[in-house]
Amino acid sequence: MRKPLELAVVGSGVAGLYAAITAVEHGHRVTLLTKDALADSNSWYAQGGIAAVGPRGTSRGDQVASHIEDTLTAGARLNDPAAVRALCSSAWGHIEALMALGTDFDAEPSGEHPALGLEAAHTHARILHAGGDSTGKVIASALIDLCRRLAGQGRLEILEHAFVTDLVDDAGVVTGLRYLQGAEAIRLEADVVLLATGGIGSLYGWTTNPAGATGDGAALAWRAGALMVDAEFVQFHPTLVRAGRFMVSEAVRGEGAILIDGDGHRFMTGVHPAAELAPRDVVARAIHHVHATGGQVFLDARAVEDAKGQGYLARRFPSITTRLAALGLDLAAAPVPVTEAQHYWMGGVHADGCGRTTVPGLRVAGEAACTGTHGANRLASNSLLEALVHGFGAASSLGADDAGEACTPTAIDYVFELSDGATDPAAAPLSLEGLQELATARLGVERTGEGLAKAVATLTAAPSGPGARTREEAELGHLITVGRLIAEAALARTTSIGAHYRTDAPPPTAAPRRVRTGFVRATRTPTPDTSAGTGSNDLLLTGSPNP
Ligand code: SIN
Repeated sequence: MRKPLELAVVGSGVAGLYAAITAVEHGHRVTLLTKDALADSNSWYAQGGIAAVGPRGTSRGDQVASHIEDTLTAGARLNDPAAVRALCSSAWGHIEALMALGTDFDAEPSGEHPALGLEAAHTHARILHAGGDSTGKVIASALIDLCRRLAGQGRLEILEHAFVTDLVDDAGVVTGLRYLQGAEAIRLEADVVLLATGGIGSLYGWTTNPAGATGDGAALAWRAGALMVDAEFVQFHPTLVRAGRFMVSEAVRGEGAILIDGDGHRFMTGVHPAAELAPRDVVARAIHHVHATGGQVFLDARAVEDAKGQGYLARRFPSITTRLAALGLDLAAAPVPVTEAQHYWMGGVHADGCGRTTVPGLRVAGEAACTGTHGANRLASNSLLEALVHGFGAASSLGADDAGEACTPTAIDYVFELSDGATDPAAAPLSLEGLQELATARLGVERTGEGLAKAVATLTAAPSGPGARTREEAELGHLITVGRLIAEAALARTTSIGAHYRTDAPPPTAAPRRVRTGFVRATRTPTPDTSAGTGSNDLLLTGSPNP
C-alpha cells in the first residue's frame, strides 16, 4: 500500500516535469516550482535527441547490450554498471510513454519506424529525435501541456517565478523549502523535496546552457549536508557558435560533417580513430589545442549537403539552420566557426536509482543528480534519457514500503569532509565575470594542480553561503559552491580520466584506477589538515586523497 505524500518538485526540465506527472499518477500531492517560466529549462534546448534501443527503433545489429557498452566506454568505466543497465534497459519503455503523451518522434520516410541518428561514441545509430533538432522542446512541451492540464483539474500546483532560497531542515530531515516569489518569502512544507534544477553552465564563460543553469540544486543539497560525488567531471561540447551563443548538435557530425582548422586541414583524423565522432572530451580537447595555439576551428557540412541533396541540412536541422541564418551563416554553403564550451556536469548530488540522497526527505533527479550512470564522461543523448528514467524512479518509488533493488545506492570509494572555509573580509568580492574567468582558466578542458590549488584558495575565501539579498546574489553563491566542489575534487584526482584532464598528470595508462570520490560538508569545527593535500581545510574520512 502506497502512502500519499506531499511532494515539492523544484525545476521544470524533463526530469522535474516527468517526476511531477508520475507522482500525481501515483496519488501524491505535488507542487512544481520553477524559478522562471515552465519552458525555461536546459532540457528545452536539447537538440540531438534520446538514445534508446527498442523493437520499433533498432539499427541493424544494435541491442541494449551495445548501448550499455557504449555508455561504459564513454564514461571511462567509472560508471556504476547497475545504474547503466537500468538506464539502457528501461529506455524504450519511456520512449513509448512519451509517444503515448503525444510526442511525435521523427520517422523514416516510410513512416513505419522512428528515424535514428548517430552521435559521438555510439557504435550504432540509435538517437531518436523530434522536430529535426528540437527534441528537448518537443518533449518538454508535451510534458508541460500535461502538467497544465493536471493543474487545471486541481491535481497539481504549479508555481512559476518561484526561486527556492533554502531547504527547511528539522534535525537533519528535510521537511520543506522556502522560496521567493516577487518580494515575498514563502515557506512550503513537504514530506519530500525533489531537486531537479539542471546544470551549472553559468559557472563558465562559454556554455551551451541557458543563463538559469546556476547549480541551485547542488548548492541547496550541499548546504543541507548531502554527499556530492564525481564533481571533477565536467563535459565540454565541441561545437558552440560563439557569435550566437548556441550549440550546433553533434548530430550534424553524425550526419558526416567534419572539423577543419583555418588552413582547411581535417585535424581529428590524426587524433582518434573515430575522428569527429570520438568521445566528446577527446574532440573538445583537440579543438581547445587548436584555439590555444592561435588557430580557428570550423564545422564543415558541405559534403553532407552534396551527398544528400540540396536542402537536406535545412530539413534535418531546421532550428540550427534558422539560427545560423540570423548570423549570416549557412552550414550547406560554408564552414561555420565553432568552439568548445561547457555542456554538462557528470558530478552532482549522490543519488540512488530512486533519487534518494544521503539526507532524509531530499531527492534529486536529472543533471543535478549523480547516479553513477555517466561515469567520467556522459555518452551523447543519454541526458534526456537519464532525466526520464530517474525522474520516474524518484517519483514512482515515493511512499513505497519496499524501495526494491533499483534503490541500491551507487558505491563511492572515498569521502572527504569539507568545512565551509573562512570568508576573507579583505578579499574583493568575486563577480560573476571573475568567477567565469577563473572557472574557464582553471576548471576547464585542461587543468593543472597549481591552477586547481589557486582556484580552491579563491573559492574557499569567497562568500557563497546563505544571506544573499537578491536572486542574483544567491545564484552567484551557488556557482561559487559548485566551483569549489569541482576544484577540490579535481585537485584530489591527480590522474587524468574521461572529462577530467590534468596536463601535469602522468600520461593516462591502459588501466587507470577507477575510484570515485565524494565530499560532505563538515558540521564540526574545521581542523586544518594539510596532509589531506587538497589545498584547504578538509578532513580525510577514508582512504587516500590521491585516487
Ligand atoms: C547535441 O545535440 O550535440 C547534444 C546532445 C547531448 O548532449 O547529449
